[in-house]
Amino acid sequence: MRVLAGIKPTADALHLGNYFGALRQFVALQEQHSETLYFIADYHSMTTLRDGAERVSNTHSVALDYLGAGVDPERAIFFVQSDVPEVCELTWILSTVTPMGLLERAHAYKDAIAKGETTNHGLFTYPVLMAADILLYHSDLVPVGQDQKQHLEMARDMASSFNHSYGEEVFKLPEPYTLDDSAVVPGTDGRKMSKSYGNWIPMFASPKKVKKAVMGIVTDSTPVEDPKEPRGPLFDIHALFASAEQKQELAARARAGGLGYGEVKKELLKLVMDYLEPMRERRADFEKRPDDVADILRSGARRARAMAAPVLESCRRVAGLGSDR
Ligand code: TRP
Repeated sequence: MRVLAGIKPTADALHLGNYFGALRQFVALQEQHSETLYFIADYHSMTTLRDGAERVSNTHSVALDYLGAGVDPERAIFFVQSDVPEVCELTWILSTVTPMGLLERAHAYKDAIAKGETTNHGLFTYPVLMAADILLYHSDLVPVGQDQKQHLEMARDMASSFNHSYGEEVFKLPEPYTLDDSAVVPGTDGRKMSKSYGNWIPMFASPKKVKKAVMGIVTDSTPVEDPKEPRGPLFDIHALFASAEQKQELAARARAGGLGYGEVKKELLKLVMDYLEPMRERRADFEKRPDDVADILRSGARRARAMAAPVLESCRRVAGLGSDR
């Protein structure tokens, strides 16, 4: 089984919601399957970000985040999308079997139009580039959240349309691996944790910022001495980090009265920091070794390219591309 996932390079963005909703499962998948490919989708980021220096720094920082969080370069092939420029050739090829109507129905594009944003062709064709990412490596399994399911469907459509048109099974049809989001992490305001709501608890920000986020979790105004039901975002987030006993113990103290929310937040902050500590340390360690990180990404790209070459070649062969046929 070959597992593949792309990661958008947005700096300073990793939060506990990403970790429990996706990253933790990426790390588990690399242990369960023989081949995992994780890449930083820097080409995709061009539809919105037009600053090269910023892209460089985002890419570096996201590479560190993922290595810190446990992407293991010994197990996973970790690379930067544009280090395998073949994906652009495949994007073109797939675009010729992609109906306009299919792309017009893409949620991301429709949302941008609905919001009155100025769109560009790159945004319109985003799902084709994503399909190329997936199909170029004969991926079997693509871990996706709800928001990316449609893109995976489209990739399957393009693969079968190409195979059908040229009468050969050039592309494998990828399957979605639905990420378990049962552990939807509530944000500090009780809504789903998301960067766009500004309710997130960062993983790798300074301890001061992590503290500020935890201390900012909304609670009601029950006085300290009153008994409290252990409910709401504060207790829900606590439950993600606490052991069964710790949970029971906290619930009992809350119901007994005399336990202030401030105290619970302090205990939660300690649990969060202890949980993140090994990841924060690993990230800091990689940060001190930029040459090693560069080597990891370079060698990842080399391996990815070697996987891509035969797939692209069979695609060119059946399509009758190039002079050397
Ligand atoms: N579009 C994905 C996102 O926004 C990122 C991505 C790019 C991706 N290429 C991919 C995900 C290929 C899975 C497979 O999160």
